[in-house]
Amino acid sequence: MRKKIVVGNWKMNKTVAEASELASAILEHLGNSTLLCEVGIAPAFPALTEVGKVIGSSDIRLAAQNCHYEDDGAYTGEISVRMLESLGCAYVIIGHSERRQYFGETNRTVNLRVRKALAEGMQVIMCVGETLEEREGGITDKIVTEQVREGLKDVGDLGGVVLAYEPVWAIGTGKTATPEQAEEVHASIRATISDMFGESAAGNLRIQYGGSVKPSNAVELFAMPNIDGGLIGGASLKAEDFVAIVKAAG
Ligand code: G3P
Repeated sequence: MRKKIVVGNWKMNKTVAEASELASAILEHLGNSTLLCEVGIAPAFPALTEVGKVIGSSDIRLAAQNCHYEDDGAYTGEISVRMLESLGCAYVIIGHSERRQYFGETNRTVNLRVRKALAEGMQVIMCVGETLEEREGGITDKIVTEQVREGLKDVGDLGGVVLAYEPVWAIGTGKTATPEQAEEVHASIRATISDMFGESAAGNLRIQYGGSVKPSNAVELFAMPNIDGGLIGGASLKAEDFVAIVKAAG
């Protein structure tokens, strides 16, 4: 049985003080309830230290929204895996569609970042997903399969990998994929993983869904056999909504 995982991707939101407040509010809403799923939050880089202090004693784990694939060097504005580890990050989100759309991320650079993070012992949440044009063009399976195969090229062990299927047309739009639409792609991803790494690895791999997950649709989505939790954007910025989604996974 795969343990579900819910991670809040805060994107470019919240100052350090606001991020600390949100983290405190999430802890408050969780209260003493035992977490039945794995939970992470990914604030913007400047807030990692302070948010890490707020959640330090809890079961919530700290995540980053990106990493570079070199140890260090002349990469202005970038951040290395070792820097993230020094800040207490347990996971790093790699290949988010917004990084592909705005910052030139490709399957090849996703693969470089994935392999670097895994090599440094950091858990990876690797994002895949098609655009509306690709879905309407009937090439969702081709695109997502390519992203999975190329993103995980030369990765030896999937133990530190979580995948996140995020249909681009559902991100921030309020247009959530139906549970059936999401399940179809998740099942296809798991079949690709089985072909690449074997049935056991595919059975153990967690695949999150992301794209307008809300408290109102989380239970139905997470009930699907191949959906193992969620990567949450907008709803993760409201403590009560994020906690409701976490509880829907537990
Ligand atoms: O990484 C999660 C994010 O892309 C989903 O965003 O706002 O649709 O939940 P949202």
